[in-house]
Amino acid sequence: MTIDPVLIKSSFAVVEPHGAAVAGYFYQHLFEHSPEVRELFAEHLDEQQDRLWAAIGALVTHVEDPGTLVGLLRDLGTRHAGYGALPGHFPAVGASLLATLAHFAGEAWTPETAASWAAVYGVVAGTMTQALVTAQSA
Ligand code: HEM
Repeated sequence: MTIDPVLIKSSFAVVEPHGAAVAGYFYQHLFEHSPEVRELFAEHLDEQQDRLWAAIGALVTHVEDPGTLVGLLRDLGTRHAGYGALPGHFPAVGASLLATLAHFAGEAWTPETAASWAAVYGVVAGTMTQALVTAQSA
């Protein structure tokens, strides 16, 4: 499945106005389904929540601009080496991200939208993981 930028942007536009509730749902989902990652995150997540969803927003903005996207993701992946993130954590984060988008997107969440987001996350996780592994072995 290729990425459909129109579906990505239109579904994100439905999710985004839910504001802080989106990040709250995401972390609750992640820590409930993947408790092993809880200790990597600060005890209080308020500031962190904003940064993660700001990053998702930036990825959506640049979804049609692979050059910018890859640069952002490499930098982000390199920084994640310092947070203790491992390549094996990415599927759990992806599952919680998609569950969160599905929850808030309502009728905008169709099988095509889900497949398009899964394809985006594949690119995101692949590029971040590559940079993360490079930084960890440096
Ligand atoms: C779509 C994939 C991901 C995105 C967009 C993302 C985004 C971000 C952003 C924007 C930050 C704020 C700091 C910075 O900009 O460097 C951050 C911090 C962090 N991320 Fe990620 N991240 C992703 C995947 C992961 C994964 C797979 C893990 C591993 C469990 C992880 C663990 C962390 C941790 C531990 C922090 C620091 C938290 C703290 O300050 O307490 N992230 N992430």
